[in-house]
Amino acid sequence: MYPTPRAAPARAPFTVPQLRQRKQAGEKIVALTCYDASFAACLDASGIDLALVGDSLGMVVQGHANTLPVTVDAMVYHCAAVARGLSSALLVADMPFMSFRDVPTALATAARLMAEGGAAMVKLEGAGWVCEVIAALVRHDVPVCAHLGLTPQSVHRFGGYRVQGRADDEAEKLVESAHRIAEAGAEALVLECVPAALAARITRELAIPTIGIGAGPACDGQVLVVHDLLGLTSGKRPRFTHNFLAGRDSIAAAFAAYRDAVRDGSFPAVEHSY
Ligand code: KIV
Repeated sequence: MYPTPRAAPARAPFTVPQLRQRKQAGEKIVALTCYDASFAACLDASGIDLALVGDSLGMVVQGHANTLPVTVDAMVYHCAAVARGLSSALLVADMPFMSFRDVPTALATAARLMAEGGAAMVKLEGAGWVCEVIAALVRHDVPVCAHLGLTPQSVHRFGGYRVQGRADDEAEKLVESAHRIAEAGAEALVLECVPAALAARITRELAIPTIGIGAGPACDGQVLVVHDLLGLTSGKRPRFTHNFLAGRDSIAAAFAAYRDAVRDGSFPAVEHSY
C-alpha cells in the first residue's frame, strides 16, 4: 500500500489574522513553496507556517523558461494536491500571469483557487492598477498577499531576473507602491530581490508583514522555492538561496533547519542579501 501524504494534525491551523499578529509579536513567519501532497505533508509536519503554491511551478515542475505559461487550471490542480497534504500550514496560491488582468477575471480566478484548490489566500504580483484588483478581492472576502520587487511575471519588461530598487527613484517608487498595496487591503507583502536596506524600510513603515526572498534579514518572514532549499537549482545558484539539505540526511531535517534558521534570524545572512 502507498502511504497517504497527510500530516498528522500536530498544531492548530495557521490563519490569516496570525500573519499580522506574528509581525506585532516580532516572531518570524516561515514560508516555503510547495506543489504536491507529499511535500505538503512534510512541510506541515516540520512546523512551517505557510505553504505557497507559487507559479514558480511553471519553471521547477513544468520546465518552462519562465512563469508566464502557467494556467489557472495548473494552479488549481497543484493547489488541491497541496491542500490534501496539509493540516495546519496556511495555503497561499499564486494568481498566474493575466489571470487577474481585470476585476471580474481576478474574482473568477480567486474563486477557483479557493473553492477548488482549497487556498486560504491568493498572491498577485505588481502595484498600480493591481491595487484596484486587490481592493475588489478584499471586498469579496479574498485575503490577498501582494508581491513587489522582482516580480517574475514582468521578466520581459525587466529584461531578465535582476535586483529591483537599487536606484533612489526606483526605491521610492517601491515604497510608495507598498503603501498603496497595504491601503488596498493586502494582508501581507512578498518582497523579492530588493536591497536589504530598502526591504527593512518597507518592513518598518508597513503594518502588514513583509515576507522576503532575497530581501535581507529584516523582513517579517522569509520564503524560498523548495527546490532551492534542497539544492536542486540548476545552473548558477542565486545569491539568496541556501542548500539546507547539504550535510543533513532527510528532507524533513532540511525543512526543520530552514524553519529554525528563519526563526532565530540566522537566515538570511549578509551573504544571501543585496
Ligand atoms: O512563484 C513563487 O514561487 C513565488 C515565490 C518565489 C515568492 O512567487
